[in-house]
Amino acid sequence: MNILLIGSGGREHALAWKMTQSHHCDALFIAPGNPGTATLGTNVAIDINDFEALRQFAVDQSIEMVVVGPEEPLVNGIFDFFAQQESTAHINVIGPSKNAAQLEGSKAFSKHFMQRHGIPTASYAEFTMDNYEEGKKYISTHPLPIVLKADGLAAGKGVIIALSHEEALTSFEEMIQHQQFGAASAKVVIEQFLEGIEVSVFALTDGKNYQIIGHAKDYKRIGEGDTGLNTGGMGCVSPVPFMDETFMDKVIQRVIEPTIHGFEKENLEYKGFVFFGLMNCGGEPYVIEYNCRLGDPETEVILPRLQTDLVSLLAAVDNGTLEDVNIEFNEGAFATVMAVSAGYPGSYPKDIKINGIETAAKDTKSIVFQAGTGFQGDHIVTKGGRVLTVTAQGKQLQEAVKNAQKALSNIQFDGMYFRKDIGYEFPA
Ligand code: AMP
Ligand code: GLY
Repeated sequence: MNILLIGSGGREHALAWKMTQSHHCDALFIAPGNPGTATLGTNVAIDINDFEALRQFAVDQSIEMVVVGPEEPLVNGIFDFFAQQESTAHINVIGPSKNAAQLEGSKAFSKHFMQRHGIPTASYAEFTMDNYEEGKKYISTHPLPIVLKADGLAAGKGVIIALSHEEALTSFEEMIQHQQFGAASAKVVIEQFLEGIEVSVFALTDGKNYQIIGHAKDYKRIGEGDTGLNTGGMGCVSPVPFMDETFMDKVIQRVIEPTIHGFEKENLEYKGFVFFGLMNCGGEPYVIEYNCRLGDPETEVILPRLQTDLVSLLAAVDNGTLEDVNIEFNEGAFATVMAVSAGYPGSYPKDIKINGIETAAKDTKSIVFQAGTGFQGDHIVTKGGRVLTVTAQGKQLQEAVKNAQKALSNIQFDGMYFRKDIGYEFPA
């Protein structure tokens, strides 16, 4: 079949890499894609939010499946747009409906959903301009640290963990009164701080049945030892050593099943990936957030680990056979290490020449996934903060990390930085 993939990051390069291994994939188009996806399919210069142009392209190219990488088009209703037009209603669009995508698009919506279905999460309250004074009082008696979250999408920047009441009050004022995150922070969720280790679990659902396709631990801070500013993710490992059967059973019983049943009970149409952002608090899982897509760079480890054919799996979402699919994983451990531009996550230079991608990719034990890259003539240059990530396999986690770093040492660009301690808590 002909497939259209939407997005242009490392996640989409990994999706393209995995989908083109399937004999069910006849042609792959990526809108807009990057130089990495261009090696696997045809990049098409269409904006991810230009639904009409995407629809027209899908019709012209007899597309049968649309895989949506990033959250923005999902929250903006791409699923419904395709479903409601006669010319595209038959296409299998992988992603939730606009209504269901609010699980990521609105923190308050996801909190209410979890409360209705008894899903463990941090206690919270929500405030707008209408109960602003009440919010200030709530903060002044709240135990420290205090977590403040902009309700809407804020490009991963809308969460503030305040260590003092003063800091929390200042952030609260910035968010609500001064619209620090625009309309996204007109409503603010204030929640209890959860102490523990984070882990992300990924499921694929048709709204009724589900399959767990992997899990990963992401390293979000820029500095080694988890210090410094938050980033989109500096690396990942999978599987995660503490994800044993006991913990996974709790995740399934308390989080995944009530979530999927919740979709069914509330008529939330959901045919896509669910990203459960969890905190392991002394062996008990709590939901920090839902995302309605795969993670980046989590995808770059979970897809190389997944043995099952991804296109068949995605087709099963549409034809009612998801329950019957057998999910299999490759042996060993996987790690991905992200190379970023100097200055990231602050401002950084662009258009810096990258050397060595081909040499690194020749190493059969590793895969280079491009993220923020572009073409300058024939040469690949940096275009973003997170430039590329190298995924490798190993017998154990530390071997996988070492293999990824070794492959990464073949790649150079001015100012290139990567964390050398991915997986540091798991020394075995
Ligand atoms: P989010 O945008 O919801 O993923 O939040 C960004 C990051 O903030 C998470 O990955 C956690 O590291 C942290 N975080 C969010 N909520 C909490 C919480 N209630 N307790 C502790 N850390 C949190
Ligand atoms: N790496 C975190 C995310 O994709 O949201």
